[in-house]
Amino acid sequence: MILVGFMGSGKSTVAKALGERLGLDVMELDAEIYALSGKTIPEIFAEEGEEGFRNYEYRVLSSACENDGIISTGGGIITHDDSYEMIRKTDRKVIFLNATFDSLYERISDDNSRPLASQPREHVKALYDSRIERYRNAADHEVDTACGLEDTVEAILNLTR
Ligand code: S3P
Repeated sequence: MILVGFMGSGKSTVAKALGERLGLDVMELDAEIYALSGKTIPEIFAEEGEEGFRNYEYRVLSSACENDGIISTGGGIITHDDSYEMIRKTDRKVIFLNATFDSLYERISDDNSRPLASQPREHVKALYDSRIERYRNAADHEVDTACGLEDTVEAILNLTR
């Protein structure tokens, strides 16, 4: 299973809960990028730009897809054409975790570990709007996370059973 969705949609938390329920390993791509590059996300953005970050992201996605388990992606992964195509064409179930922009923004606006969230609100909203179509095209199912963690996990288990 692969979880996609905007920053703040709860991908990591949901992936962890699903991993526990299903007895599967969880691969957190942002953490894999740190392991691969030895740099934090803000460091990569500052030193190598967003493009450098997307290249690391594609590499860790490619290797994660060689193993079983649940893959929790970073919110911008679908902006990179090769990563997007890989997710769109995979045999794995792809779940798009979504919520209203207001609630997503509330969860990310104070977080300086996310370079792309540290911009004026309307820029972050434009980013969300520009990505929504690709999340939907890549995913088998869209799940609204407004109902909370337990219900979100149940909904995903019901959809993928
Ligand atoms: C990004 C989302 C982040 C992280 C990086 C870029 C984005 O992951 O990969 O800061 O472009 O939306 P989360 O979705 O886990 O915050």
